[in-house]
Amino acid sequence: MVIIRDKFLLYFGYFIIFISLYSFLMNESVKIFDTTLRDGEQVPGCKLETSEKLKIAEKLDFLGVDVIEAGFPVSSPGDYNSVVEISKITKNASVCGLTRAVKKDIDIAVSALHYAKRPRLHTGIGTSESHIKHKFNSSREKILNRAVEAVKYSKKFIDDVEFYAEDAGRTENEFLALICEKVIEAGATVINIPDTTGYCLPIEYGKKINYLVNNVKNIDKATISCHCHNDLGLATANSIEGVMNGARQIECTINGIGERAGNTSLEEVVMVLKQHPELKLDTNINTKLLLDISKIVSESMGVVVQPNKAIVGANAFAHSSGIHQDGVIKKRETYEIINPNDVGVDESSIVLTARSGRAALAYKAKNIGFELSKIQLDKVYSQFLEFADKNKEVKDTDLPNIIQLAKI
Ligand code: KIV
Ligand code: ZN
Repeated sequence: MVIIRDKFLLYFGYFIIFISLYSFLMNESVKIFDTTLRDGEQVPGCKLETSEKLKIAEKLDFLGVDVIEAGFPVSSPGDYNSVVEISKITKNASVCGLTRAVKKDIDIAVSALHYAKRPRLHTGIGTSESHIKHKFNSSREKILNRAVEAVKYSKKFIDDVEFYAEDAGRTENEFLALICEKVIEAGATVINIPDTTGYCLPIEYGKKINYLVNNVKNIDKATISCHCHNDLGLATANSIEGVMNGARQIECTINGIGERAGNTSLEEVVMVLKQHPELKLDTNINTKLLLDISKIVSESMGVVVQPNKAIVGANAFAHSSGIHQDGVIKKRETYEIINPNDVGVDESSIVLTARSGRAALAYKAKNIGFELSKIQLDKVYSQFLEFADKNKEVKDTDLPNIIQLAKI
């Protein structure tokens, strides 16, 4: 009897060690919830036709996003129709429709999601003092009640119900925790903590998520989601703090488009997680498709991507100063932390300007068939600087002329 007990304890010990080692070594998954077609489309002048939305939704599904927020069905017949059509064509991602905590909104969203393989209903209400007082002229008690009722009502039709506490960034943590607990009790599967006004500091947003992890007693029954706006340029940093503190979903848009200064940029958070394996957090995104989808969204919405935009900007892999060019020509990693191929960019580029050095000039000349000796290079370089001082950029097509003028 004693031997059996000892053996049992030994194997049980091995089992515990195996489980601890396994969870220590394994990465966890962060879900990517794309809201380009809902929050992103709220940019003035960016309204899309259903056919354009369908093209983007298809690309998003192929990219590997976990959830596509397809629209706000009650807002207009066009948006309703887009959600219906996107639901029909989406193969892998969940398709989500936004509602207020209002029965009519929920009914219409449920109907729009009818064809979705994996429907998700996203309902919620403002929870900050500012929203409760000025938007709703209401009280915490009534808002809590409406939140719970909206989730309970949604659950009658759809199993996957996400609740958003609008302006959670400025909502007092204790009240936020209470709302989260009650809506999870009512069946919410995901708790969205939006920094609606883009106000939070990363440390503050991280602490908020940590507070919920530690103070909502049924939090293990739901996924915490980060939804950050970029009013202070902190949306990406805040979302990353969020997942470092226990959130497991990030809401974001392609190119970071969205209301005012925009939303968290999908390509940025995905690449932060990829480039920092020590965080042990993975996404399901095929990063090689990032540039392609960035271009499609930019073209369909008519919003130009700023050249210095991280990951997908035209200059994200372009080097123009002499010191950097010299380093990159010797070894790309001296000035690049991302392999351009990983995000769908063919190669880094060397841009010739008056700040470029001899190494870059020799490299570019060689690329178009001119192998210059040291003496020749000195002569061509003087000619090059004269030309470059008068022009913003020296193109490859300018080089033969410059070489000829150098009379080498
Ligand atoms: O920013 C926000 O609070 C939102 C919610 C509607 C989710 O977009
Ligand atoms: Zn938002």
